[in-house]
Amino acid sequence: MVMQLEGVVPFGRSFDEYVKIFDLTARDLSKTILSVADGPASFNAEGTKLGYRIKSIDPLYSFTAEQIRNRFYEVVDNIIEQVERTPDDWLWAYHSSPRGLRENRERAISLFCDDYENGKEQGRYAIGELPGLKYRDCEYELGLCSHFLFLYSDHFDEAFHLDSILEMLRVCQEVRIFPLLTLMLQPSPHLRTIVEYLEKTGYTCEIRRVSYELQRGGNEMLKITKIASYTATLC
Ligand SMILES: C[S@@+](CC[C@H](N)C(=O)[O-])C[C@H]1O[C@@H](n2cnc3c(N)ncnc32)[C@H](O)[C@@H]1O
Repeated sequence: MVMQLEGVVPFGRSFDEYVKIFDLTARDLSKTILSVADGPASFNAEGTKLGYRIKSIDPLYSFTAEQIRNRFYEVVDNIIEQVERTPDDWLWAYHSSPRGLRENRERAISLFCDDYENGKEQGRYAIGELPGLKYRDCEYELGLCSHFLFLYSDHFDEAFHLDSILEMLRVCQEVRIFPLLTLMLQPSPHLRTIVEYLEKTGYTCEIRRVSYELQRGGNEMLKITKIASYTATLC
């Protein structure tokens, strides 16, 4: 599907936020990582500088850095105003304030844009979208999905979520998804059914509390691993 930039809010998180969101250890970071729906996060830019092997995919990467940056500055004031109007919905331990949030998002998109053209040439940023990935079975050790699956449960149905997660599990040995809340701060209506399905079909699911919480109540990450003796696609 061709993405329309007018409908996109290109807000990206930093490497440090990803480490907290996904509870990433040095061992996790040493793996080959496929970061799905990565948008203008600076995880890849900062992680590559630190020597990690990260590939980011997103339909947004059909646009140029300039287009993505311009879109960010078209929407950022409005988004921060919305945050300021809903003070009960947010916790400020990490970003300190709406102003701090804005500064951190500006920093992330700036690092992303500076790295983007180079990273595209190196194949670190590629156009791609769920629920279909163009990678081989078990090509990556760790798959991450930040702020897309479950968060947009009101836009994408349960079948989309299940297909997407199974596809990530086909390509990656382990998958982590954050957050498990919707944009309305409700637990995703798809989560329980999907966890039950995965646990019946050869996967172990762990809902882990993490040290990052911006959306009130949004401090849980789903970690999915394959049970070696059970799963058809063994990595
Ligand atoms: C809220 S942003 C999250 C960006 C980044 N992961 C982060 O946490 O900073 C959601 C991203 O999902 C991407 N997206 C939309 N539809 C998608 C799809 N079908 N498959 C993969 N990514 C998609 C958007 O382009 C956008 O960059």
